[in-house]
Amino acid sequence: MNQLVISCSLSPTSHSALMANRLVNELRKVGDETELVDLRDVSLPFCDGNASYDDTNVAMLSAKIEAAHAVALAMPIYYYDVGGAARNLIAMTGSSWKEQIVGLLGAAGGRSSYMSLMPIGNSLMLDFRCIILPRFVYATRQSCGNGKLIDAAIQERLGRLAGDMHHFASCLRQFNDSPENSSQKCTKGSR
Ligand SMILES: Cc1cc2nc3c(=O)[nH]c(=O)nc-3n(C[C@H](O)[C@H](O)[C@H](O)COP(=O)(O)O)c2cc1C
Repeated sequence: MNQLVISCSLSPTSHSALMANRLVNELRKVGDETELVDLRDVSLPFCDGNASYDDTNVAMLSAKIEAAHAVALAMPIYYYDVGGAARNLIAMTGSSWKEQIVGLLGAAGGRSSYMSLMPIGNSLMLDFRCIILPRFVYATRQSCGNGKLIDAAIQERLGRLAGDMHHFASCLRQFNDSPENSSQKCTKGSR
């Protein structure tokens, strides 16, 4: 499987990036080709619904999202929602998310924002018919220390999410590749 993990925090000491890196390792452990995109390294214009779509990084990211069998988004939680860089990424890459399998990771300060990944999941589901994996990984500031992910429970959840990304993507590919299902292909293989 060809998997993509996008870290959406612009913070130099990002916990989202720690989780994203760990997820990449877990996906590689299950044998998947996995690429990490860190938005700190990719400058994206703010979406203006117009000429900003012509930016070359928009085309580059859209192509990676479209080519992946599943995509994970690791995002900071700001004001009970995901940070603006993640929202801007979705606005800029729009239809490349069509029917994608998506895993969601959130880096937060405390425990009370645990529902904050729902709105972005809803909009990906409603706008682009994404399959949102029902295994969110939500880490608080206690989960990280000295630039490392130190919470064993979060590490375990990242391993499980990697397993789910692999499993869902493989099952759909198997289904779509089967001649019996040629008239009823679903999601990623149906385009
Ligand atoms: C502007 C701003 C708003 C924040 N809002 C919340 C919030 O609503 N809930 C929460 O738990 N943490 C909040 N935090 C804390 C961040 O979620 C936390 O610092 C997290 O580590 C950010 O992810 P990152 O390290 O990947 O950048 C906020 C931080 C900032 C800078």
